[in-house]
Amino acid sequence: MVHINENFAKLPAGYLFTEIGRRVSEYQRLNPDAQIIRMGIGDVTLPLPKACIEAMHNAVNEMATSEGFRGYGPEQGYEFLQQKISHYDYKKYGVDIATDEIFVSDGAKSDTGNIGDILGINNKIAVTDPVYPVYVDTNVMAGRAGHLQADGCWSNIVYMPVNAENNFVPDLPKEDVSVIYLCFPNNPTGTTLTRSQLKVWVDYALEHKALILFDAAYEAFITEADVPHSIYEIDGAKKVAIEFRSYSKTAGFTGTRCSYTVVPKECVAYDDSGKAYALNNFWRRRQCTKFNGTPYIVQRGAEAIYTEEGQQQVKQIVNYYLHNAQIIRNSLSAKGFAVYGGINSPYVWVKTDGTDSWKFFDYLLHEKHIVTTPGVGFGPSGEGYVRLTAFNTLEKTQEAMARI
Ligand SMILES: Cc1ncc(COP(=O)(O)O)c(C=O)c1O
Repeated sequence: MVHINENFAKLPAGYLFTEIGRRVSEYQRLNPDAQIIRMGIGDVTLPLPKACIEAMHNAVNEMATSEGFRGYGPEQGYEFLQQKISHYDYKKYGVDIATDEIFVSDGAKSDTGNIGDILGINNKIAVTDPVYPVYVDTNVMAGRAGHLQADGCWSNIVYMPVNAENNFVPDLPKEDVSVIYLCFPNNPTGTTLTRSQLKVWVDYALEHKALILFDAAYEAFITEADVPHSIYEIDGAKKVAIEFRSYSKTAGFTGTRCSYTVVPKECVAYDDSGKAYALNNFWRRRQCTKFNGTPYIVQRGAEAIYTEEGQQQVKQIVNYYLHNAQIIRNSLSAKGFAVYGGINSPYVWVKTDGTDSWKFFDYLLHEKHIVTTPGVGFGPSGEGYVRLTAFNTLEKTQEAMARI
């Protein structure tokens, strides 16, 4: 008899975006003339930067020749891309990251989900609440989460609320935790931590021999000077943090798929006897065994982001979305809503008029034909909020705000 991984059976059947999709389709079916504007799921609308397209075309042409053809590449990415990442994404901010500390991959979703493979089952996990659901669900699958309680929290996960009351800065956990997921600029709240606020977490991890899994998928949207671009800007972070980056929202790679994860050689985890192991070796071993590399063509496309024209084009894309975010922020605050995020992030987190998240979601869908994401879908502390994304076109963003 084949046995199932029973942890999967613990996961609630409905995935947030499936439920949103169901409600939107149902409404559209009953109201075929409604012009629905989607500001829910975090997918982008602008096409790939020209520099990336050109580089990928060239790479396809290379692959069409016997001299230029490439088969399996290095599992952790081609050095041409690792070198650009090391120089432009880290050296620029005074951080030394070697190429063999960079693991190119097919998505920050896969990497933040898979990283648990190299971590013990008995780790105590802490997440901010609301949270990008992948961190929680993958720990449920692995068997680290315990059981789902009536309050929507998993019994073995420590939740650190981020809300208007604490100015979206999580408090340190009261109990000892060993793995901490931090995502800044944050999905879903769009808020950030300053350098000194992030230092508190690095210091905690150093003191408790804990590990921070730092998701910086939205780093490119940072506009304010005191917001760190990388956790490694904080002293000591290389010993206790793994960082995840993605080209998805930066350069429109949501469908093209390319990201990377930094695992510094100093970063360690321990066995029961307290012996330290370099996570870099473990992650390399994991990737070499389970992953055969990101396509050459895609990595050439990602490399082009770091050319002068690539940098300019990406800046234009990011600024376009940030402008949309500003329109959303301004329009909704003018209507009296409390709005957060949207300054260093494509997400705007809006406090509802007092109704619960799903009711407000339904109200905006039915009355204004605007799709949002109910905050409670990201965790109990998201109740009473909805998330709007700035990833739609300028025209649709303007129209949506005019409707409100
Ligand atoms: C916080 C966060 N991390 C990771 C991802 C996934 O990124 P990728 O497209 O690289 O898998 C997302 C996508 O929405 C995200 O919001």
